[in-house]
Amino acid sequence: MKKPIIFSGLQPTGIPTLGTVLGATENWARLSAEYNCLYCVVDMHALTIRQDPETLRSYSRNALAWLIALGLSPDENTLYFQSHVPAHGELAWILNCYTYVGELNRMTQFKDKSAKNEENINAGLYTYPVLQAADILLYQASLVPVGEDQRQHLELARNIALRFNGIYGEVFTVPDVYIAPVGAKIMGLQTPEKKMSKSEAENENNLVLVSDAPEAILKKFKRAVTDSDNEIRFAEEKPGISNLLTIFACATGKTIPQAEAEFAGQGYGQLKTRVGEAVVEMLKPYQDTHAKLMADGAYLDTVIKEGAAKAADMAAPTLTAVKKAVGYPMPV
Ligand code: TYM
Repeated sequence: MKKPIIFSGLQPTGIPTLGTVLGATENWARLSAEYNCLYCVVDMHALTIRQDPETLRSYSRNALAWLIALGLSPDENTLYFQSHVPAHGELAWILNCYTYVGELNRMTQFKDKSAKNEENINAGLYTYPVLQAADILLYQASLVPVGEDQRQHLELARNIALRFNGIYGEVFTVPDVYIAPVGAKIMGLQTPEKKMSKSEAENENNLVLVSDAPEAILKKFKRAVTDSDNEIRFAEEKPGISNLLTIFACATGKTIPQAEAEFAGQGYGQLKTRVGEAVVEMLKPYQDTHAKLMADGAYLDTVIKEGAAKAADMAAPTLTAVKKAVGYPMPV
């Protein structure tokens, strides 16, 4: 029997953060067995913010190695660069013509990113969610595992698919979003009311990168913002403590109530140390594998080449069906 398809993506705009791992890639690895999965380094999306070419190239390769290191075997998953499969761009153009400006105007990430990059509010930043819809619909993905911040983009992808199907028949699978119950929004260690994000790197203590050395990780957790009542429990009015409990639960495979029970009667200092240690322990094997992968250029090259070929093959039938549906002349 054919397995249902998963698609998800990661921007190579820096080294992945702990948020990316706990909110996304840990779930990707868990879902790999039951689905036919494509995990894509979305370098085309990264261009919406000005990038240094050499840095983008090196982060892209680095990100692909992280996907493997984080447990996504290239033998079982399709791992590739978005720019290596031109069908993404071709479908994005078509879907632009089936997306309303009113819908794009409502995208909160566009508003946030525009506010942060006032000098470069480019058209790509605006139509970014359409390219994201193309990524997903191109492969007939039925499930898209992402963090909470991507929910609105996924809703748009569904609406575009439904609209297109409404006009032309069942061309696209309408994808469901998968957002994990715990870890879908890991917050900054210094600003626990805001998502941990690599684009908010002004304060390096705010975010943990997957490549951080153990001492750095422990130090960042020791400095994490808490509150003044000294009670370790998960609650909306305690964003710092709740975030630490969430990270601990995700890093150790425990539930939030189990994490709360474990720290009953302890102080914030102990909590911060134990969470830091749990993260160091979780990341260590990933870091070791990543270092080995980066040292084996030939192996990575093969993964990159084979991933692109496999993804292009999977994308081709959908793109052909779409071109036929909209009335492009067929090649003769
Ligand atoms: P990106 O590169 O910002 O993040 C990759 C994945 O990590 C999740 N994530 C988080 N989860 C929990 N807490 C956090 N602090 C945190 N930070 C990041 C994100 O939700 C995401 O799942 N637009 C996407 C990339 C993309 C994509 C796609 C995703 C392009 N096309 C198609 C799914 C399907 C993005 O910028 O992710």
